[in-house]
Amino acid sequence: MKKRVFSGIQPTGNIHIGNYLGAIRHWASSQDQYENIFCIVDLHAITVAQDPKELSMKTREVAGLLFAAGIDPRRSAVFVQSHVGAHSELAWILNCFIPIGWMNRMTQYKEKSEKQKEQVSVGLFDYPALMAADILLYETDQVPVGEDQKQHVELTRDIAQRFNSIYGAVFKLPEPVIPDVGARIMGLDDPSKKMSKSDANPGHAVNLLDSTDAIRSKIMKATTDSKREICFDEKRPGIYNLLVIYELFSKMSRKEITARFEGKGYAQFKNELAEAIIEGLRPLQLRYRELTADPHYLDSLLAEGSARVKPVAEKTLSAVQKAIGLVPPI
Ligand code: AMP
Ligand code: TRP
Repeated sequence: MKKRVFSGIQPTGNIHIGNYLGAIRHWASSQDQYENIFCIVDLHAITVAQDPKELSMKTREVAGLLFAAGIDPRRSAVFVQSHVGAHSELAWILNCFIPIGWMNRMTQYKEKSEKQKEQVSVGLFDYPALMAADILLYETDQVPVGEDQKQHVELTRDIAQRFNSIYGAVFKLPEPVIPDVGARIMGLDDPSKKMSKSDANPGHAVNLLDSTDAIRSKIMKATTDSKREICFDEKRPGIYNLLVIYELFSKMSRKEITARFEGKGYAQFKNELAEAIIEGLRPLQLRYRELTADPHYLDSLLAEGSARVKPVAEKTLSAVQKAIGLVPPI
């Protein structure tokens, strides 16, 4: 039996080469090894204010990018969270079993709510309960997440354990997996910050759907240093980050790269880097355009995804309902 892996992705911001190199391409290449479920978490996105048009556009964009990056709808399930009602239903039930003190400890809520002040919604506070529901509905074995989400997966385990201790073994306990991506891609404008989907500076990230001109201009403007030598030196974070991106796109070894740019200047390296990214993203961008040329096609793939996962989610939800004594409808 393959292990089941559940990943959630918010349909907000712009998916960038950090997401691609650090996550999406690994998801695509691990499809034979794991049973992958990818959930586009639109209900999580609305825990902060969203423009309705933008939200629906981004939901389809993320889906299109996942398929374009090689996620195969025959092997993996890609679906939209709000299309499977069991997520919201289980989140409500879990709410009634989560001690409020556990929720009060969530550091992401503390950080986000400090930024938003009085605009904070109850949904933002409850975000981890919905995330627990996402994971627990599918008898998930592994949840690949970044460091920042580990606390939420641990909370999910605590919730599952608490529920199971009252009602018997209803939920499977998931494991958080912090993937060893080999690369943490840093911001082009500031190599001390992780490349992020929500950074407002347009020069911060190369996004997967950027035009060739945009890619060239962002790379040429990327922050480096005043030295000359082009070598993999972590103490020089700007040039190091660019070299790592080059390494991952060109698939050359560090030795080959160092030899190739020996005695050459930053401008030439940046030119070649931009071309390597453009070439690397070209097949993905082409497939994205093909896929999204007919929006009904993309929607039909998403419908297949939710049809595939719904029976699993509904089975878990009924087991929970039965355990707590809700009378089943006839
Ligand atoms: P996020 O953009 O935070 O929703 O992350 C989605 C996925 O992309 C997660 O698996 C992250 O670990 C990965 N990821 C996000 N940003 C980076 C980055 N700068 N470098 C490498 N991986 C990243
Ligand atoms: N909270 C996650 C993030 O912001 C997204 C997410 C929602 C998720 N539900 C999930 C991730 C379930 C893993 C499993 O990145």
